[in-house]
Amino acid sequence: MKHDTTSKHYNVGTIGYGWAATAHIAAINATKQGRVTAVCSSRPLDAAELSAKHGGPIKTYERVEDMLADPAIDVVDITGLPSLHRDQAVAAAKAKKHIILEKPMANSPEEVAHIMQAAAANGVKGCVCFECRFSNQFQVTKALLDEGLLGKLHYGEVDYYHGIGPWYGQFRWNTGKKDGGSALLTAGCHALDALLMLMGHDVQSVTSLSTKSASPIFAPYEYDTSSVTILHFKNGAVGKSAAIVDCLQPYYFHTHLVGSEGSLLDDKFHSMKLKADKGHWSKLSMKMLDSGDVSDHPYQAQFQAFFDALDKGQDMPLTSFKEAKKTFDVIFAADKSAAQGGVPVTL
Ligand SMILES: NC(=O)c1ccc[n+]([C@@H]2O[C@H](COP(=O)([O-])OP(=O)(O)OC[C@H]3O[C@@H](n4cnc5c(N)ncnc54)[C@H](O)[C@@H]3O)[C@@H](O)[C@H]2O)c1
Repeated sequence: MKHDTTSKHYNVGTIGYGWAATAHIAAINATKQGRVTAVCSSRPLDAAELSAKHGGPIKTYERVEDMLADPAIDVVDITGLPSLHRDQAVAAAKAKKHIILEKPMANSPEEVAHIMQAAAANGVKGCVCFECRFSNQFQVTKALLDEGLLGKLHYGEVDYYHGIGPWYGQFRWNTGKKDGGSALLTAGCHALDALLMLMGHDVQSVTSLSTKSASPIFAPYEYDTSSVTILHFKNGAVGKSAAIVDCLQPYYFHTHLVGSEGSLLDDKFHSMKLKADKGHWSKLSMKMLDSGDVSDHPYQAQFQAFFDALDKGQDMPLTSFKEAKKTFDVIFAADKSAAQGGVPVTL
């Protein structure tokens, strides 16, 4: 246990015990203040086995309401099916628990609004798992922008290429519209969120088109598993984000930013300010987001930032409910545009 005895402790109850949950538990337990002390799953779990596996006492629950009634729980960590996120988050807020919420926040604007209202009405804070914002890749990219090395951005694209086929456990529920939602909601949201982190959230309108692969591997999907969204920002800049979950290739998070002083392509850049040779890229040393494996995702840095913000009674940086909702507003507008065959939707 790495707990710092001088700061507050947060007992966390995790809802769901699938792939994301196991990564969350290790990451929460590695923070200074957080410790998972309860797990709630509709499958009966063995408390002694979980306690031994995760290195500390863990109570198990089969009903969310029973776990929420436990006054020892400070934070609820929601990792279950997306169609259950709204009801679980609203119940957690009413029980005065702070909330860690896996993406998508929920699969409709109405559900996201209910979560926001419940959190505000009950004075609880939220952390949405857009953990890519805490990745070394996007932290370094943002620092480069903040240093002004690319000048004023007028174009940016961040794309998500990750084939989510039967080789993933979540395939069994993710193929349904009810839980999977859309190419953006199920996974492409990470790339669109990164684009908005880099270019700002002031989006005027979006246009999106969607399609799906002809491969039988992806036939079970009830929704289009490839989409491309063009964003028109209020400051005149334009952006693009592709969400491709039916590709057959290595995981690739593609980033290309173009500004008045230079460009960045993934881990390469050119800046006129440095007077380097424009005929060749300069290289940035950074850990790239090159895997869909949750054990590689920067959850620990995100959860540490959440607990540090809770210590101060503040909203967390980068992935609070308020910040994440801005990205979901753009996603819902993009999916509305795609459903209408690419009609522009104003935010
Ligand atoms: N942020 C990320 O990078 C990332 C990565 C993977 C998953 N996720 C998100 O985490 C969440 C869970 O995904 P996962 O990959 O762990 O999926 P999983 O299939 O491994 O686990 C899903 C969870 O839902 C529960 N569940 C399954 N069927 C159920 C049912 N019928 N009724 C009630 N509960 C049921 C399972 O017990 C499990 O806890 C989703 O919201 C997903 O989008 C996020």
